[in-house]
Amino acid sequence: MAKDPVRVLVTGAAGQIGYALVPMIARGVMLGADQPVILHMLDIPPAAEALNGVKMELVDAAFPLLKGVVATTDAVEACTGVNVAVMVGGFPRKEGMERKDVMSKNVSIYKSQASALEKHAAPNCKVLVVANPANTNALILKEFAPSIPEKNITCLTRLDHNRALGQISERLSVQVSDVKNVIIWGNHSSSQYPDVNHATVTTPAGEKPVRELVADDAWLNGEFISTVQQRGAAIIKARKLSSALSAASSACDHIRDWVLGTPEGTFVLYGCLL
Ligand code: NAD
Ligand code: LMR
Repeated sequence: MAKDPVRVLVTGAAGQIGYALVPMIARGVMLGADQPVILHMLDIPPAAEALNGVKMELVDAAFPLLKGVVATTDAVEACTGVNVAVMVGGFPRKEGMERKDVMSKNVSIYKSQASALEKHAAPNCKVLVVANPANTNALILKEFAPSIPEKNITCLTRLDHNRALGQISERLSVQVSDVKNVIIWGNHSSSQYPDVNHATVTTPAGEKPVRELVADDAWLNGEFISTVQQRGAAIIKARKLSSALSAASSACDHIRDWVLGTPEGTFVLYGCLL
């Protein structure tokens, strides 16, 4: 029997992450290839026409799993009945800025959208905050939506996790899918600590610790950490825009593993409000 559709909210859906993210959700990357979805897309009035363009493209792509699209500038309409909320709406930093520099602009958004979510989302709605500063915005959302269970409010550090996997895979010339169990401690900011002390690589001879295979503590304790910490800034320098496809893909990984579980023997530590 076909599953009931899951309603997924994406705020900031007319922006660059939104544009990369909504087709992934509609294709089943976030919730599974057998899970129908209804997309709720929110943006602000100046972006209404662009948002409608995204809706037109979703229709044109004829995604079999996509059972409906709500495209709106009204937060209440956007939040009504949603089971998963991916909060991307906000302003990205530019070259030379830290993520905390967009705090004053973005934090107020999370105050007002928290109450719309609290009042109108489905019970047990799972929330992922992507907009920066992600941990702070998630904290604000928690404060202003006290009836959403604290454990349901998370923010995106899965991108940092995936970046760490990518760096190890490049360094060892192994498949990224064979590297697992890195941990990102701390905030999604340049003070985070990417930790490989429990990380392993699947090799023909079994699971091997990353530290043993890399055999270069100076690199692991130095360049590896700073590369992951500064990767967001490096992407902005190269693209003149902040990361989008990797952020969207990591948001899908975050929700998928949260809802469907990680593969056996694999863990991911979420950006949460400890
Ligand atoms: P963008 O500027 O391309 O898109 C943001 C969208 O949000 C725009 O369409 C804008 O109109 C919309 N918006 C602004 N205020 C809004 C509001 N009150 N309600 C709804 N929508 C609103 O930016 P982007 O590149 O998509 O990045 C979005 C955010 O995600 C930024 O804050 C960026 O720094 C952050 N980000 C976080 C991570 C992470 O790993 N946590 C990774 C990449 C980007
Ligand atoms: C990232 O890590 O790519 C995002 O947080 C965007 C940024 O400002 O670095």
